[in-house]
Amino acid sequence: MSFEPAPSLDMSTPEAKRESYGLLVAQARSLFEGERDWLANLAQFSALVFNAVPELNWAGFYMARAEELVLGPFQGKVACVRIPFERGVCGACARTQVVQLVPDVHAFPGHIACDSASQSELVLPVLVNGQLRAVFDLDSPVLGRFDKEDALGFSNALDVLVEATDWA
Ligand code: SME
Repeated sequence: MSFEPAPSLDMSTPEAKRESYGLLVAQARSLFEGERDWLANLAQFSALVFNAVPELNWAGFYMARAEELVLGPFQGKVACVRIPFERGVCGACARTQVVQLVPDVHAFPGHIACDSASQSELVLPVLVNGQLRAVFDLDSPVLGRFDKEDALGFSNALDVLVEATDWA
């Protein structure tokens, strides 16, 4: 497989951000060509996002296991391993299956601080045939780092991952 690592994407203006997420989606598509293993693809997706998207200090998956989340493939500092559905931003995402956009993590009741550098957070549900398989968690050291355009961009990239992957 030949694959050019993504350069840091330009997110300095709304137009640049939109274009950058288009590029990220295309890079995800090319990255998964010929590989459908869930563990490999989730690991690659985390690495792609963490290295291409600016102002992140953590990017990765928590896998849905009964009523708790268990740490999956990720990039960043070591993190808490198990998160019950009733706890934290990730738990709220798993419970509601709705994207959680948190501009200031200190203002979110029950936020779990894995890295004191984190200031804002975005968590998206990963649904396969309507069933929750994981959440994708992004942390930033910048307050208010994420907006609806980021949520849409990551959601489109996750759609590519879901389609390209055989889920065990
Ligand atoms: N902040 C998350 C916990 C996971 S770490 O950020 C990697 C939460 O509140 O659920």
